[in-house]
Amino acid sequence: MMTSIVSKESGKADVSVLFYVKKAVQFSPVLSEQAQEQVDTVLDGMVDGPFADLEFLEIDGQPLLFVNASKEKGLDSLDGLRMAAYRLGKHAQKRQFGTVSLVLADAAPEQFAAILTGLYHAQYRFDKYKSKAPKVHSVRYELVAGTQTKALNAVKVQVETLMECTTLCRNLVNEPGGSLVPADMVKVAQQVAKNHKLAIKIRDKAQLTKEGFNGLLTVGRGGENPPYMVTLEYKPTAAAKHVHLGIVGKGVTFDTGGLSIKPANGMWEMREDMAGAATALAAIQAIASLKLPIRVTAVLCLTENRPGANAVLPGDIFTAKNGKTIMVENTDAEGRLILTDGLYEAGSHKVTHLIDIATLTGAMVRALGNAITGFFCNDDHFSTQIVAAGKENGEKFWPMPLEDEYADSLKDKVADFKNVTGEVGAITAALFLREFIPENVKWSHWDVAGTAFTTKEYKYTSFGSTGFGIHSLVALAQRLAQQ
Ligand code: BES
Ligand code: ZN
Ligand code: ZN
Repeated sequence: MMTSIVSKESGKADVSVLFYVKKAVQFSPVLSEQAQEQVDTVLDGMVDGPFADLEFLEIDGQPLLFVNASKEKGLDSLDGLRMAAYRLGKHAQKRQFGTVSLVLADAAPEQFAAILTGLYHAQYRFDKYKSKAPKVHSVRYELVAGTQTKALNAVKVQVETLMECTTLCRNLVNEPGGSLVPADMVKVAQQVAKNHKLAIKIRDKAQLTKEGFNGLLTVGRGGENPPYMVTLEYKPTAAAKHVHLGIVGKGVTFDTGGLSIKPANGMWEMREDMAGAATALAAIQAIASLKLPIRVTAVLCLTENRPGANAVLPGDIFTAKNGKTIMVENTDAEGRLILTDGLYEAGSHKVTHLIDIATLTGAMVRALGNAITGFFCNDDHFSTQIVAAGKENGEKFWPMPLEDEYADSLKDKVADFKNVTGEVGAITAALFLREFIPENVKWSHWDVAGTAFTTKEYKYTSFGSTGFGIHSLVALAQRLAQQ
């Protein structure tokens, strides 16, 4: 746990932080001339010598923690700051510092936000399943803001909101597939709706059947835990005109592959297959908490994908909500089937901009790995806005082509479409989705199969859900509200 206080002036602290980039001090407490000279010598040695990225030194009687903010290859300077703060946070917990002072009076708001974000990431834990969870030391951070105190306090409130929502997403994604089923996600969505006064519509299996949402019903047939679709609406009174953002999330609470069953190795990771839905939920929660002036509708497509006596058979055909027929060639390509329902539902709410987020294909993981989300978009301006929103938040997006040359390979001999083709898995998945988007919307598909979850320490996640996408979605909503 941690607390952070934005204060005008420095108070009493156990240690003051000095961030450095190469040989230059970036943020530092006020130092005597003598101390300054010593610091310069130390920095020369740090950069050229065998020092760690974090060094605790007492200089001229002042306890200083040197933190390297320039280390990370391939990351921009803001992400360098987030990572530096993350390392600082971990170190401060381990060393059990009481109060750590950071003098950030000269920081730009985005630098201040980056540092605080890193500190919050450092405190995240998912240890509810440990019989003896280790006690985490609580650090108090004093963020000295000088004349910027009011402005940076406002930034702090924003960061806290975003990180609270990120924690919600992470906790949901990290939960094992047997412990979090569609109905559990529905309960959480209800709670979010209640807390933030969002309109909520829950369709259970009977309602889905009545209305012909056959994607969810088809995939959900194999599991004992029934599918749901949840629609959340945020309608602020002062909303920007002519813009309405829809966010559709893939929420497969566990993906065994169904009858086209996955190999045993690594199957456990498929708890992450509801990350899209968790991200959509966290994003609308953040947007509502921050009271952004934009209409947003989030649709969560929730189901399990399991083999079972009644499971969908390879070769079975169903009619999607927009009337097109689909042959299920491979039951493991289930995400695109349930998204047909989500895209339709978002369209019926007359969204102008529509994003679907899904851990959709292993092909995307092979193409871009764990650091970059490949996305598809049918509008150049929207595409630019997405990349920019990501960049502000250390979330990398790479534009992928909706290549028409591959489109015909999705045609089936018996039904209109089949759900898989032999090659270019991530692109053909996007082309499949394109058949089901509402008319006249700016649409983007985010394939987060590689970026939503990590099994090794990566950036500011030690293990599990990364929360990828929440920050970018909120930044994007901010941009759309202003355009
Ligand atoms: N949920 C998986 C995709 C996935 C893979 C997510 C790795 C996260 C990490 C998806 O439902 C799936 O199984 N896709 C298949 C599609 C194939 C059958 C065409 C895949 O990518 O192998
Ligand atoms: Zn699958
Ligand atoms: Zn899946």
